[in-house]
Parts: sequence; structure tokens; C-alpha cells
Amino acid sequence: IASTSSDIVIFGAMGDLAQRKLIPSLFQLESADLLGQDSRIIGVARHEEDTNSFSDICKESLARYVKPEELEPEALKRFLAKIEYCSVNFTEAESYQDLKTTLDTSAERARIFYYATPASIYGSISKNLTRCECINTNSCVVLEKPIGHNLKSSNEVNDQVAEYFDETQIYRIDHYLGKETVQNLIALRFANPLFGSQWNQSHISHVEITVAEKVGIEGRWGYFDKAGQMRDMVQNHLLQLLCLTAMDPPDDLSADMIRNEKVKVLKALRPITSEMCSTHVVRGRYTKGMLEGTPVPGYMEEEGANPDSNTETFVAIKAEINNWRWAGVPFYLRTGKRMPEKLSQITIHFKPQPHFIFDENQRHLAQNKLIIRLQPEEGISLQILNKDQGLGKGMRLRSEPLKLNFSQAFEQKRIPDAYERLLLEVIQGNQYLFVRRDEVEHAWTWCDQLMEHWASDTKPPLPYAAGSWGPKASDLMLIKDGNSWHEDQ
Ligand code: BG6
Repeated sequence: IASTSSDIVIFGAMGDLAQRKLIPSLFQLESADLLGQDSRIIGVARHEEDTNSFSDICKESLARYVKPEELEPEALKRFLAKIEYCSVNFTEAESYQDLKTTLDTSAERARIFYYATPASIYGSISKNLTRCECINTNSCVVLEKPIGHNLKSSNEVNDQVAEYFDETQIYRIDHYLGKETVQNLIALRFANPLFGSQWNQSHISHVEITVAEKVGIEGRWGYFDKAGQMRDMVQNHLLQLLCLTAMDPPDDLSADMIRNEKVKVLKALRPITSEMCSTHVVRGRYTKGMLEGTPVPGYMEEEGANPDSNTETFVAIKAEINNWRWAGVPFYLRTGKRMPEKLSQITIHFKPQPHFIFDENQRHLAQNKLIIRLQPEEGISLQILNKDQGLGKGMRLRSEPLKLNFSQAFEQKRIPDAYERLLLEVIQGNQYLFVRRDEVEHAWTWCDQLMEHWASDTKPPLPYAAGSWGPKASDLMLIKDGNSWHEDQ
């Protein structure tokens, strides 16, 4: 899409994602003059609203989700003037006529169809858009996760959409790819010779990827209980982080070169057999506990809970990548709900010096760690050893971080939300931050074979108290390898 002005059509415009993320992000793009002067945002939903009332709803969302000092009146006026609304019954072709007449007909104007709806209707929306001739040569579609709940159902959805859109027109969102630090991984790894030369099994002992959340199920029991933490977080966000950390250098920064390298990592992931489950996987579920001094209910006591549920809210996995670069280097993945804090970070543990000349008691200190912090406080820190300052301390070592805090370093008051960046990339027609179909398929293949072992296991997930870092077994999994989760949390 070359044009800078687009019709951005949001299906599911009244829903939580649209109102909490998409509308505020589009507003921020407008504020930064990045939306395109003549662009329009066309909200589409079943509700019998009109443009005025939809505009009021968007205004309320902006008041709730955008900081007052960022809600600049001139930008708000410009933004609201771009909003339109069409009431459409997504599964009935006849009801798309209104949308058809609302769309701008100039051929060079881009049409972006954002499906913020359940994936089960992606196929019928695509079919109906085609029948009503709403798709032109300058159209693309944005798909939200989850696309299916295993390889088979994800293929069904992707096949349905592929009947109407070419892969080059499809933008599959994984919002973690829009986070500032995630993108910086590419710069960090491939622009710095220091890391470029050390990024392999000769120098790295193991890698940790933690995505911990304080929130529980947030009223989403119906969705979450069918998904579980493995489908909700590992299949997409954690595997994407693993790919960007482990991939070989792409030949250039084009979408396909980057995605080719990510696919190679997914294909090289060692399948987890049922024998490996006891040593390589921990599945947990939170029970009641305390978070920041407040009692919170356990998963099975949340509203809407199903007493027969066997769903996990925590997963820790020791993943291994069968290739030259990573042979023998475990990638420990950990993600859970109701953890003590919201924390997403990648920790690279470098191997110790081959010969240690300092006091033996300090040997345990002698490892460099690179910590890439996605949230909160986006930044990078490198743990290095120094001589402890002062007289009479001999050559005592002390581990201290070299820290780079993004918002301080770049004097940036706000770091854009992932959705702002992703929407801008769609507007500019750049697919490198979106997930290609074969990536989704390989990620499902690896997750499916692991989840098959769980399906035949009637034991419930291991309990952990809300507000803790997960079941003890997750710590033990690393201790057995002589490692531990990075504790600077
Ligand atoms: C979503 C999951 O994809 O990511 C949610 O469906 C999760 O369950 C969310 O809470 C976490 O995203 P973030 O950006 O807040 O870390």
C-alpha cells in the first residue's frame, strides 16, 4: 500500500479491543500527523448506532485510555472528524451495502479491514466483503489472535481468508512484535559486533524468557478456559520472542528475510515427547493468594468458573533448539497469570571465564548477564563484574549493572503503545512486524504435540498461590540444570 490516506475499517468497533487499544492508538497517530490527512476510520458493528453516537463512544474511550495531557483538543477535533460508522450484520452479505457506499472509491486509496472479532467469522467477513465488491487491489486485512486453537483450526481460518486475500495482503497481529524493546532486539543483536560475535553456544550458557502478569482472567473465563496459558501466551508471544532472540542474521531487514529466519528457529525446536514432560514442562494454576496486600481468588473461584476445568494459568518450559548455534543451550520459557508483578524480560546468561583467578568463593558471581526488559521500564542492562571499591577489600568482585533505560536515554516522554506502531506499519504497507502463515503453523505444530500429552493426563495443573512466581517445580526444573530464574525482579 503506497498511499498515505486510507479507509481503516474496524469490524467489532464496539468491542473491548477496538475501544481500549485501536481507537486510542489511531488517535495517537493522528496527534503525531501520521494517519494521513484524508484518512477515515469506519467503525463497523451490529449495533444500530450512527456516526454521531459512535463518535461519542470513541470520545469516552479516549477520555478513559489516553492521558489527559495527551488529549490535545485540536488533534481530538481532527480525529473525530475522521470517524464514520456503519451497522453491518457480519454474516449477511446484503447488510454490507451501507459499508460499500461509505468506502471511498478512488483506486489509489488503501482499504484496511481490521477484524477485531472472533476468528470463527473471519472467513464469512472476507467472503461478504468480496461479494459486495468492497475489496479493491489496494486492500489488506489485519487479523487478531487467537487464530484457531490448534494447527487444524488455525489452518481452517487461514484457508478461508486466503480465498479472498493474498498472503502479501494479510497482517497477522502479535502485539508483542510492536513493543519498542522487542524491535530493539534486532538492532541490539545485529548492529553491535560485540553481541553479534558472542551470540551462540560457545559463549551463552542459557536463555530465560519470562512474561509474567499480575492480572488474572479479567472476566474472560469463557475464552481463557478453552485456551489456557499455552495457547494464550506461549504459542504466540513467547515463541516470537524466542525466535527473535535465537534467529540467524537475516540477509536484510525485509519482511520475508526476517520471517524466513524465524521459521528456521521454529522448525529446529526439539519436539517435547511425553517422557520429557516431567523434566521439561511445568504446568500450574493459581489458587487464592495475596497480591500487593489484597486477597485475590483462585482460578477455580473466579466468576464463571467451571468445576471440571483442567486449564493452566502458568507454564514453564525448557525448550531446546536443534541447530549449530544453540546446541546444548536451554531456553527457559515462563509465563503466568497472577504473578507478583507485571514483568516481561529476556535474560541472556553468558558462560563463565574458562579459568578463574579470583577467590573461589566468588566464582558464582562470575557470569555476565544481558537483561532485555520489555516492560515495565523498557531498557537493557548488562551485569558486569568490577572490583569492589575501597581500601582493604583486596580483589573482591562485585556484580553491577550497566543500564540503559529507554525513556531516559532517548528523552522520550512516552513510549508508543505496540498497537500504534503496528497500525502505522499496516498503513505504510510493511509486513515485517506481522506473523506469516508458516510461522503460525510451525508454532502450532510444536505446541500441539506438547499439549497432546496434557490431553491424556487427568492430573490437574500444579497449584501456586496467586502472588507467587509459580509452582516450586518451575524453580526445580532449573535447579536440576544448575541454574535459577534471574532474581532481580
Ligand atoms: C494477550 C493475551 O495476547 O496478551 C492476554 O490474550 C494477556 O491474556 C496480554 O493479558 C498481555 O499483553 P501485555 O501487552 O499487557 O503484556
